[in-house]
Amino acid sequence: MFIGIDLGTSSIKMILIDQNQSILASANSSLTVQSPKDGFSEQNPQEWIDSTMKCLEALKSKKPKEFSQTISIGISGHMHGATLIDKDGKVIRPCILWNDSRSYKECEEFEKQNFDVRSISGNITMPGFTAPKINWIKNNEIDNFKKIFKVLLPKDYLRFVLTGEFFSEMSDASGTLWLDIQKRKWSNQLLSCSFLEEKHMPDLVEGNEQTGFLKNELKEKFNFNNNVKVVGGAGDNAAAATGMGITNKNQSFISLGTSGVFFTPTENFLSNTGDAVHSFCHCLPNKWHLMSVMLSASNCLDWICTITNTAITDTLNNVEHFYNDQNSVKNSSYFLPYLSGERTPHNDPHIRGSLHSIKTTTNATDLQYAVIEGVSFGILDGVNSILKVNNNFDKIFMVGGGSKSSFWIELLASLLNRQLSVCDQSEFGAALGVARLAMYQDATNDNKENIISEIKISKTYEPNEDNIDLLLKRYSIWKDLYNSNNKIAQNLIF
Ligand code: XUL
Repeated sequence: MFIGIDLGTSSIKMILIDQNQSILASANSSLTVQSPKDGFSEQNPQEWIDSTMKCLEALKSKKPKEFSQTISIGISGHMHGATLIDKDGKVIRPCILWNDSRSYKECEEFEKQNFDVRSISGNITMPGFTAPKINWIKNNEIDNFKKIFKVLLPKDYLRFVLTGEFFSEMSDASGTLWLDIQKRKWSNQLLSCSFLEEKHMPDLVEGNEQTGFLKNELKEKFNFNNNVKVVGGAGDNAAAATGMGITNKNQSFISLGTSGVFFTPTENFLSNTGDAVHSFCHCLPNKWHLMSVMLSASNCLDWICTITNTAITDTLNNVEHFYNDQNSVKNSSYFLPYLSGERTPHNDPHIRGSLHSIKTTTNATDLQYAVIEGVSFGILDGVNSILKVNNNFDKIFMVGGGSKSSFWIELLASLLNRQLSVCDQSEFGAALGVARLAMYQDATNDNKENIISEIKISKTYEPNEDNIDLLLKRYSIWKDLYNSNNKIAQNLIF
C-alpha cells in the first residue's frame, strides 16, 4: 500500500492506494488562508500538521488493515511558499504563499546583479516565487531574517515534521529561483541574491528518490507494520501531471483550480521569460516542463457566485443557456480576472480584476458569463505564451474544480480550437501522482514501466465551429482592455 498526500491551498487531500493503484480510501481536511492586507496571503503551518494527522486518522479508520501495510508515502504541495525554520526546528512566522504579491520591489533588487539571473533560474523573478519573499523578510522583518536556519517549501516542511529530515526535490525547488534549472542543483550565485547560502537549503533529490522514514513515534501512533519510507514527491502541478501520466512532450494539461495552469513536459531546458512562462524541472530525472500560471481561476467563479448570491451549479446552468445565444454573448460585458495580480503573460502584481462594458440591461448571468469567459481568455493567453517556444503538445487533459463543468470545457475547446479530454479520478490527481512516485521508488526495474502510465480518458470535447470567431473577436477586445487598464494599475494602490 502507498499513501499520497496533497497539501493544497484550501485543503489537504490524502489517498491510500494498493499495488493496482485502486484508491482504497481517501480523506480531506480544509485549510484557511489569511490575508492581513491587500496582496498578502499567508498560512499557519501548524494547520498543515493538524490536517495531515486528521487525514491519516481518517484513512486508518476507513481501512485499518490495508493502512497498516503502507510501504511508502509521497508528498505534493502548493509551490513557492516560504516556511522559515529556526535552529530548533521551530517555524519563525506564518508561511508567505504563492499568491502573495508583497515582494514586487524585492524582485528588482534580486535581479540587479553583475550576472544574468534569468539565464540560471530560467524564470523571471516574480513576487509569487520564494526568493523575493526572503528579500522582503530581510528588508521588513530583520529579526526574523536573522533567525533563519532553513527555508522550506510547504510540502518539505511537512516532510520534516513526518521524518525529521531536510529534503526537497527538483520540481518544487525550481519555484524558489535558487535552483540552476538546467543543472538541477542549488546555485550559490542565485542564493547570494537573497543573502543566503546552500546551508540554508534542504538537500535535493528527484521526486522518485527516498528521503527518509516516518518517525518512530508516528509509526507507533498510527500502527504501521513497516518502517514507512517517504519519497521526494513533487510540487502540485508536476504531481498532478504524474497522476495523469503526463511526462512526455506531446502531452499537456489545463488546470482550472484556485490558480489556472497550462503544463507541458519538455525533454530539455527551454524558457520564455519574456512572457513570464515558468520553466521548471519535472519530478522525474532528465525531464523538464513549461507552465503558464494565472493566479485567479476558479476562485473568480467563487467570487462572482458569492457576490451575486448564486450557487455554483445554478450559475453554470444559467451561463450555459446564455452562451447558447450568440447575441447575448456578443453584447456581454468583459471581465479581467486579475483578482490577485497576474503572472503569465503579464508579470503584473499591481493589476486587479475589473468588469467592462456594463449596461442598464446587464444582469447577474451576464456578469457570471463574463467571469467564466475572462478566466478562459487568461488560459488562452498562457497557452499562446508557451506556443512561442514549444509547439509539441497535441493531447490536452482538463483537471481541477472547473473541469467538472462540461459547458466550461466546451467553451475552452472552441476558444483554443483544440480537443480537450477529461479523465477519471482527476480530483485526486496530485495525491495519485505522488503515490505513484512512492510506488515507482519501491518497484524493481522490471515492474517500473507501467506505474506512471497515461490515465484513461473518460470523455473528449471538440471545438464548436460556430463559436470560434465570436470568441476570438471578444478575446482581441479583452486584450486591449488589459493594455489600457495596466497603465493606471500602479496608481490604484496607495
Ligand atoms: C505554480 C503556482 C500554483 C501553486 C498553487 O507556480 O504558483 O500553481 O502551486 O497551486
